[in-house]
Amino acid sequence: MGRFENYTYDLLQRPEVRRLGRRKSHHFTEDRLAHSMATAKLAYRVARVVRADARVTARAALLHDWFFENRDEHQNRFGANVRHGAIAAANARGLGEPPAVSAAIATHMWGYVKGAPKTREAWIVWMADNITWLTDAIKSFLKFVRTSIRRFLYGPPGSRGRSYVA
Ligand SMILES: [Fe+2]
Ligand SMILES: [Fe+2]
Repeated sequence: MGRFENYTYDLLQRPEVRRLGRRKSHHFTEDRLAHSMATAKLAYRVARVVRADARVTARAALLHDWFFENRDEHQNRFGANVRHGAIAAANARGLGEPPAVSAAIATHMWGYVKGAPKTREAWIVWMADNITWLTDAIKSFLKFVRTSIRRFLYGPPGSRGRSYVA
């Protein structure tokens, strides 16, 4: 097992953590577990490079969206997810995670909520989350553009080419 797996294995064994896979991401295309895993892997790598605590970073990133409230329960009027950072931080504490982990989770929505990250690990989680969801957003936007152009040129799926035939 690589070190990332060592640091996160126990969390990924827990059914209550895996349950995230059945929740739609509040971001774009991926489910919440896939989004959390991508964020955790990226955060872990960055932590290794800048010599932050890679274990704390990986675990915080993996649990940063670990909450099960519905979208409308934690949104403000701009549609931003304002409360779930605090909810996920409390949940991680409940799982027995140390203060460094829950602190890094609590500030991951900085920009929408007050309270900038205070530790290197928290900054990395914040950055990795934003890179991950932005990448997904760009990917689904490009997919939308591609399908729109294709529809414009060829008509709806299944009718390819037929729009040119009388
Ligand atoms: Fe989040
Ligand atoms: Fe996230």
